[in-house]
Amino acid sequence: MKVLITGGMGFIGRAVTKKLIESSVNSITIVDPLTEKIHGPDAKPFDFMNPMVNFIKGDISDRAVIEPLLLSADAVIHLAAETGTGQSMYEIELYNKVNITATSLMLDILSNNKHKIKKFLVASSRAIYGEGKYTCNQHGAVYPNARLDKDMSKGDFEVKCPFCATNCNVEATTEDSLIHPSSFYGITKHFQESIVMTMCPNIGIAPVALRYQNVYGPGQSLNNPYTGILSIFSNLLRAGKNIEIFEDGQESRDFVFIEDVADATAASLLNEKANNQILNIGSGVSTSVIDVANTLKMLYGSSSKLSVNGKYRIGDIRHNFADISRAKEAIGFTPRYDFKNGIKCFTDWVNTQEVKSDDSYKRSLEEMKQKNLYK
Ligand SMILES: NC(=O)c1ccc[n+]([C@@H]2O[C@H](COP(=O)([O-])OP(=O)(O)OC[C@H]3O[C@@H](n4cnc5c(N)ncnc54)[C@H](O)[C@@H]3O)[C@@H](O)[C@H]2O)c1
Ligand SMILES: [Zn+2]
Repeated sequence: MKVLITGGMGFIGRAVTKKLIESSVNSITIVDPLTEKIHGPDAKPFDFMNPMVNFIKGDISDRAVIEPLLLSADAVIHLAAETGTGQSMYEIELYNKVNITATSLMLDILSNNKHKIKKFLVASSRAIYGEGKYTCNQHGAVYPNARLDKDMSKGDFEVKCPFCATNCNVEATTEDSLIHPSSFYGITKHFQESIVMTMCPNIGIAPVALRYQNVYGPGQSLNNPYTGILSIFSNLLRAGKNIEIFEDGQESRDFVFIEDVADATAASLLNEKANNQILNIGSGVSTSVIDVANTLKMLYGSSSKLSVNGKYRIGDIRHNFADISRAKEAIGFTPRYDFKNGIKCFTDWVNTQEVKSDDSYKRSLEEMKQKNLYK
């Protein structure tokens, strides 16, 4: 099987490629422009030291690049994307071009040409749920709207029931939960997922959408100031800078370790039981941001001060963790790493990297502030 991986030089793509090298796949082509935001200036492609991996430096928005690659592949893992939730709130055209238009172009090519692709796997995201599933004591299961500026500006960050406006409790989000993204990134991911799931069966392709939760681990970008609180906090802690945690620090996420994500992605490609399925890929466990910051500080032995600053970003969700029972049923997915083990592997790896102490994170917050998105 010849597999095409778009965005395969990214964090998830490299881990998936390594996993597939050990599998029954016999050829992997990666297409990736090595965007500077992720890879830094003058980036060189990662060398997998394996002749079955080919690398094409190119942009999937370019028909001349993507068409021949699609038409010679047997399967696609579509990971290429712009990925910053906050940045997506003002770089709308860019997020549209890479995430929506380029995916449409790929489907256009497959719909109008003879192809031999049997499977198309698309990287979706927990961002499509916006605030996920909650329960209200009075109204049962509810899907709250984005939090209001007027509550958050008073320091009230809790999620409210859409019917009675009282605080409600977070539940594990199942795949059949309401889709209502609160960021442009989330909208693009939902669109990507929907067009792949809808169009592929008409052209003889089995689609699979993997709704990744917050993926972390060795190899994640330490350059990109727009994504990945583990990277952002690590850079600040190692440079001896203090960390100001948004909101009250109790906001939480489902952190899933990269090896588990690579296993799940490879299994979804190789196992027919994943065909036509939409699967949450997470740890199934919620971890608060303040716990993340404290754990990192302890593991780096850093003397930086942590404080909660009560500021917030428009478009951020409060809590999130995934119900992963469907992935367990379909592909036998059970995470092998809990947060304690995963974060230790992550910090051990970060300690082998050079300390990043530029002001790019500060500048990213300034950008959001200017757009009235960081308050
Ligand atoms: N990492 C996470 O926590 C997470 C969570 C949910 C969903 N996802 C999704 O998983 C996928 C991979 O994420 P990642 O964490 O590996 O991100 P990443 O930024 O590390 O990798 C994305 C790769 O795509 C490449 N790329 C960007 N524009 C491209 C273009 N026009 N053509 C081809 N390649 C292009 C980049 O150079 C980069 O190598 C994305 O679709 C993302 O939306 C990631
Ligand atoms: Zn209620």
